[in-house]
Amino acid sequence: MRKKLKRFRANADLSNLFEQGKPGYETLRGRWAEDVFGNAHPLVVELGCGSGEFTAALAERTPPQNHVGVDRRGARMFIGSRYALEHQLANVAFLRTDVADLERFFAPDEIDTLWLTFPDPRPKTKQAKHRLTAPPFLKMYERLVGPGGWVRFKTDDAGLFDYTLALVRQHTSTAELSFTDDLHRSPLAGEQCMLETRYEKRFRAEGLSIKYLQFQFGR
Ligand SMILES: C[S@@+](CC[C@H](N)C(=O)[O-])C[C@H]1O[C@@H](n2cnc3c(N)ncnc32)[C@H](O)[C@@H]1O
Repeated sequence: MRKKLKRFRANADLSNLFEQGKPGYETLRGRWAEDVFGNAHPLVVELGCGSGEFTAALAERTPPQNHVGVDRRGARMFIGSRYALEHQLANVAFLRTDVADLERFFAPDEIDTLWLTFPDPRPKTKQAKHRLTAPPFLKMYERLVGPGGWVRFKTDDAGLFDYTLALVRQHTSTAELSFTDDLHRSPLAGEQCMLETRYEKRFRAEGLSIKYLQFQFGR
């Protein structure tokens, strides 16, 4: 507990990490390009980024894009945040919020690519509304991801994968859907897909295959 508190206090000094009570937190919506990054490069957002290492690694590989890692828990995000500051990555930031409140922080069409990396499967039916791919979340992503933008989703969990795939297919305006139940043996494994998150490394070490789907909203 004491360690956690120390980390929360450390977050206060991290200039690339936005959370309640820090300057700029309330005015981010529609302002990422101008106020945070100072350029209009495409915005890539990872939801449920955990320790933020994947967001930082993507940012390091793709300088002409801006990257934001989002998580409601702040105690681990300092890892990615501190890495980005130490490596002078000016194209990465972190935001502490619940995904349910995402529209407080991003304007319609402001996001170019949305990554969902190993969201909690929440297998119980009564928890289904909290799955980050439940219908209200998909509808919100459609409002936030601009024309031509992508949603990219990785999981080890077959139940969550099948659930999400069925919903995306039902979604009549979804175009350009592709998927695989074994990303690391698939032609879909482009450079960005091959970067592994912390959970991905753990699951692969246990011998689990990574399921992946990507789609665009056809508008
Ligand atoms: C299983 S971990 C995956 C972490 C990371 N993406 C990875 O692959 O290593 C799920 C993360 O999602 C975050 N999370 C779950 N529900 C969330 C929500 N509604 N809003 C924001 N973050 C959420 C949790 O705090 C946790 O850090």
